[in-house]
Amino acid sequence: MSKNVMECPKLGPEHIENLFEDAYLGLRKFYLMEFSLKYNMYELLEEPKTFEQLKIWFEEKGFKSNDNLLLNVLDALVQFGLVNKYNRSHNSAETYYETSEVANIYLNPKSEFSGIDSVSPLLTYKGRAKKWINLEDTFMGKEPKLKENSFFSEAVRRMVTDCRSRKLKATIDYLSQFEEVKNAKSILDVAGGHGLYGIALSYLNEDSKCKIFDLPKVCEETEKYIAEYGSDRVTTAPGDYYKGTIVETLDSDNPEGYDLVFTSHSPGCKSIEVIDKIYDAMAPNGVFVNKQIFSEGIGDKYQLRQSFENIDWNMFSFSALGKEGASNTFKNDLTLDGYLSYMKEKGFELLDIYSFDERKSVKNEVSYKCNPKLMNNQMGSYIIVAKKVKA
Ligand SMILES: C[S@@+](CC[C@H](N)C(=O)[O-])C[C@H]1O[C@@H](n2cnc3c(N)ncnc32)[C@H](O)[C@@H]1O
Repeated sequence: MSKNVMECPKLGPEHIENLFEDAYLGLRKFYLMEFSLKYNMYELLEEPKTFEQLKIWFEEKGFKSNDNLLLNVLDALVQFGLVNKYNRSHNSAETYYETSEVANIYLNPKSEFSGIDSVSPLLTYKGRAKKWINLEDTFMGKEPKLKENSFFSEAVRRMVTDCRSRKLKATIDYLSQFEEVKNAKSILDVAGGHGLYGIALSYLNEDSKCKIFDLPKVCEETEKYIAEYGSDRVTTAPGDYYKGTIVETLDSDNPEGYDLVFTSHSPGCKSIEVIDKIYDAMAPNGVFVNKQIFSEGIGDKYQLRQSFENIDWNMFSFSALGKEGASNTFKNDLTLDGYLSYMKEKGFELLDIYSFDERKSVKNEVSYKCNPKLMNNQMGSYIIVAKKVKA
């Protein structure tokens, strides 16, 4: 008997179709963004251009004339909110295209906040994408091991744009509510990298002195940022918190210890070994501000996104630093709950637990789980403010 043409499976194909549709839409968005950046369209459209002018530009780049294709590419960039499209007057059909304000700030290489130069935070996506395109090679471990010194020197330069675009101001605005932070006279920014957090903290008190502690090679970079944004109250303290102590960075005129120790996204500062070293270098009643990613704090509905972050994290290795499976997690790192409990045991009073993703305190909430507003590889960022109460 022939098969019944009307017979269909119990489950429809919609779930599978949606997965493919979603994936393919993301792929197209990614490659279009990449094309527009590669051909510097946001600087090109800084001054408005007509379609006729853009057609000439397209052909000058060596592309085959295709009005419909170009029109639709421009239309997609308009949909992304990166390009504005308008007619100059009611009685003219001539359409103008112009870079939108947000794209001018972040995607035009002439802007100081541009994320598209050689150390761009945005271009890290391209690097990550390469690992996915050559997935077999990645799984075979063909990626070279990252050398910490050069990785961090480059990461530090990349983080400057990211930090200055919003994160730095949001962090300092939040911390300014603490009298202990505003009154701190001796400050240490541990694993400060570019040093911008330490520099900004030193702005809060004209009588303060701040040291930026980081690996010696990275401190060479830090010096450049101190020259640009800092003052003679900010200096570097080259060192390695795994190999030496932090106490040794104290000056003879400050034997009691630092009034304020700040650290942001430093590998190591979620481990008992480094917390103990920081504690030893702090003055009684000093404050320790630790801005860290605790990815286990991310709410369950973001787990799919987090799974991908975890895959990315496991696609490379460092030559010395050991990692755990979850993104932004290193060997011997405490979990968020483990960190909070160890801090109390060590002799700290917890002043606040702040979900940086949501820009709110979660200290008095039933759960510390966070709901990131922005899903990226830094989801699950918390600022934990603690005071040393036990000597
Ligand atoms: C992700 S960057 C964070 C930079 C900056 N604090 C920020 O949040 O933008 C991590 C920093 O930790 C520093 N670091 C890594 N291992 C270190 C170690 N063993 N001792 C001191 N600093 C270290 C790196 O050099 C780098 O500057």
